[in-house]
Amino acid sequence: MALERTYAMLKPGVLPRRIVGEIISRIERKGFSIVGLKIMRIPRELAERHYAEHKDKPFFGELVEYITSGPVVAMVLEGEGAVKMLRLLCGATRPEDALPGTIRGDYAMHTNFNIIHASDSPEAAAREIGLFFRPEELVEWSDGNKDWI
Ligand code: PPS
Repeated sequence: MALERTYAMLKPGVLPRRIVGEIISRIERKGFSIVGLKIMRIPRELAERHYAEHKDKPFFGELVEYITSGPVVAMVLEGEGAVKMLRLLCGATRPEDALPGTIRGDYAMHTNFNIIHASDSPEAAAREIGLFFRPEELVEWSDGNKDWI
């Protein structure tokens, strides 16, 4: 599989629950390399651009309201087939479909305000990385661990 980058975001419910470290640990243990990481508040205009494809959905207002309601942890993750791999690790969007063992399956029971966003295609990943990170905020590194993960 090709080396890819994807965008992930721990949503506002995660910091108050004090589970940022736990979630990032699961992402690291899978084998992703973190190449960008920051905590930020998302301005409404950026949230609306990020979720632009959903602007006609009935939940668009709630989605923007939630993502701007508190700080998020924004990440760029690198790995082979990273976009699909991260989606698998996160699990299905709807809580009732998210299997145990996935991040969404293990950390939420009923809420539509799920705890993590992950890009759904390489094109979306490139667009979202560009929205949230400046090129100089991304750091390339290699530790020679590839064969073990
Ligand atoms: S859809 O309808 O299939 O396009 O929606 P989906 O791709 O599954 O979800 C897009 C994002 O919208 C969030 N979502 C919701 N938020 C609030 N209320 C409701 N009912 C709702 N349904 C979906 C969902 O969590 C997705 O957010 P991200 O940040 O991409 O995970």
